[in-house]
Amino acid sequence: MSDEVARLRERVPYHVAIIMDGNGRWARARGQPRLAGHRAGVENLRRTLDACAKLGIKVLTVYAFSTENWGRPPAEVRGLMNILETVIDRELRRLHANGVQLRHVGVLEGLSESLQRKVRQAVALTRNNDRVTLNVAFNYGGRQEIVHAVQRIMRAGFAPEEVDTTLINYYLYTAGLPDPDLIIRTAGEMRLSNFLLWQASYAEYYSTPVFWPDFDQAELLKALHQYAQRERRFGLVSPSSS
Ligand code: FPP
Repeated sequence: MSDEVARLRERVPYHVAIIMDGNGRWARARGQPRLAGHRAGVENLRRTLDACAKLGIKVLTVYAFSTENWGRPPAEVRGLMNILETVIDRELRRLHANGVQLRHVGVLEGLSESLQRKVRQAVALTRNNDRVTLNVAFNYGGRQEIVHAVQRIMRAGFAPEEVDTTLINYYLYTAGLPDPDLIIRTAGEMRLSNFLLWQASYAEYYSTPVFWPDFDQAELLKALHQYAQRERRFGLVSPSSS
């Protein structure tokens, strides 16, 4: 491992979340169909997960399919569903052997019965793994997540004065996971696009023009470097200013 990586380890984020944007533009630049970009995106996710595990990042959350993505052309939606199914079929054994815990954030309703079953089985199989958690946001929407949490809290019969941030955390899809420390967005956009709205409150944000399939380990290290230099104050004042 290089000295640079060894130094970064001292301030490595526990939880990194990625908005994997730019697959379509990556494909178009090569005269290929959009789905070729998504397939290249999956290959890059595999490399990124390996890099995160080596660097000691414990949780990686990726935005793979938003509640808004249903509005894309039907062939692309079908393609993204097939990609998730293929990833589970082809990669689950390797992920499990490498100590990866697979989690799903979002709702399974709306996916095919067979895909729902595969996701449930993958989550159940890997639930005790603890090397790294891969949290896949699929059919996920941040506002919908908060609405669902409120609905479940009301159904459970809590009184208004019992509702606090701890309780809401408990009812989110991400229950039990710490908030992301660093949110990375590829392909140049500067917005959250309904991703982890509640959990992003104090996350550091990093945006790069690089398209997701090209976001390699060198690019990840750049993001981690910037993160390591940021001063996180969580609404407090800097110790150096007091
Ligand atoms: C955004 O690029 C990317 C997506 C909407 C899908 C991301 C999905 C993958 C990388 C593969 C799925 C991964 C799993 C684990 C199932 P875009 O299509 O919006 O790109 P564009 O903005 O250039 O058009």
